Amino acid sequence: MRKIKIVDTTLRDGEQTPRVNLNSEEKLRIAKQLETLGVDVIEAGFAMASPGDFEAIKLISSEIKKSTISSLARLVKKDIERAAEALKEAEKKRIHTFIATSPIHREFKLKMNKEEIINSIRENVAYAKSFVNEIEFSCEDATRTEKEFLVEAYSTAVEAGAVVLNVPDTVGYRTPQEVFELIKYLKENIRGIEKAEISVHCHDDLGLSVSNSIAAIQGGANQVECTINGLGERAGNTSLEEVVMIIHTRKDIFKDCITNIETTQLYPTSKLVGLLTGVIPQPNKAIIGTNAFSHESGIHQHGVLSNPETYEIMKPETVGRSTDSLVLGKLSGKHAFEDKLKNLGIKGLTNEKISELFSEFKKLADKKKYILDEDILSLIADDAATVSTNKFRLDNFEIKRENGKVKASIDIFVENNKKSESAQGDGPVDASFKAIHKIIGEEFKMEEYKLDAITGDVDAQAQSSVVVSKGEKRLIGRGQSTDIVEASIKAYINAINRFYQYI
Ligand code: KIV
Ligand code: ZN
Repeated sequence: MRKIKIVDTTLRDGEQTPRVNLNSEEKLRIAKQLETLGVDVIEAGFAMASPGDFEAIKLISSEIKKSTISSLARLVKKDIERAAEALKEAEKKRIHTFIATSPIHREFKLKMNKEEIINSIRENVAYAKSFVNEIEFSCEDATRTEKEFLVEAYSTAVEAGAVVLNVPDTVGYRTPQEVFELIKYLKENIRGIEKAEISVHCHDDLGLSVSNSIAAIQGGANQVECTINGLGERAGNTSLEEVVMIIHTRKDIFKDCITNIETTQLYPTSKLVGLLTGVIPQPNKAIIGTNAFSHESGIHQHGVLSNPETYEIMKPETVGRSTDSLVLGKLSGKHAFEDKLKNLGIKGLTNEKISELFSEFKKLADKKKYILDEDILSLIADDAATVSTNKFRLDNFEIKRENGKVKASIDIFVENNKKSESAQGDGPVDASFKAIHKIIGEEFKMEEYKLDAITGDVDAQAQSSVVVSKGEKRLIGRGQSTDIVEASIKAYINAINRFYQYI
């Protein structure tokens, strides 16, 4: 059997999605879910990029035991040292170091010639190896690099100790046939290739990242780098759930391939990442989109009722979309709640945390008749967002209409002091935001405001996502509630808290 290793880079490349910013607790919550999902390697961040990234890698390294934890590092000593330091406590660790190799990057970005690049690979891959045994080496923009030079670069990396050679299609330029041929060529020509695995890392600029990753597997790559929901810079990265389900569903083609992924955790993981990042996948997204398993046309419905295989190539349960996700209600007890957490793959919570979440669940069950899986995941997401370092916490709010105007009164804890203010506005959300400005004594510019339903039922919870800016900084915030005004207030406060965490 051929083991196809799955590297998840949601917390590194995925976090480069425009405006997505996750705090350390949120990253840890996602990392725990990725471990439950069974990913082989979690690329937890880019240690040198910011103190926040460094701390998150450190935290994840100390908590995650089954998956290997990786940090990205440019091929320079100070990056490598920082990555090694962040990974210190990890049981299984990897440094992923990279340098651009294509002519355009050599000339305009690095201003280095081929020889200088090869020398840097020889010296710095060996330097990384002196800290951590498992070294992954990438040629950034590999797919636009001369093939012969790629062979030189990767052969040098193997000689210096790299055990994974990653081939990024950085700008999402290649087609599947080209990727297939490139991987085959590299396998046939890299010196010492028997000591290393080939990996692929594709971007989706032409919508080909999944197809290219699959072509790479067929060409001989044994590791695929991807993100949940295909998050990532520009058009995003390869979607993990799609690659895994292609291998799983087309066993006739991939008979010798296996992954370590527990497919029933794909949907809960996608939901959690959507809730925590505020980036909700489009409804027609394969595998995890709202419509991915719904049949609207009568002919399809009739067929599926007589035999699901007429129109379904996968069972929804296989990817963790329970057909009966109607689970808990206000009479459900703590045991049922704990069972549900277990089924959703939520592990590693202390008893105290479970009790806190259970009391939040009870509050929600008072407002909402049926508590669906998505509702439970949204409680978890909300909890990860409410970190102890948060400066502002919503206590209470009230909306009144007076003489055609709307008035919002808001109570917020600023650190531990309760402050209250009222303001009038064009609507409840506008009035609430104005009252919040008065409390914090600062104005933020609202760049975007969005409301989504988390579930499809009549008393669904709303998720509000906002993008606020001040000066150069733009931050996303999100909040959930059965009340759309409360969801909006929470989202706004969440964005402001992030603003203070990131300065
Ligand atoms: O897309 C890319 O080239 C990358 C590398 C740093 C691996 O993300
Ligand atoms: Zn990338």
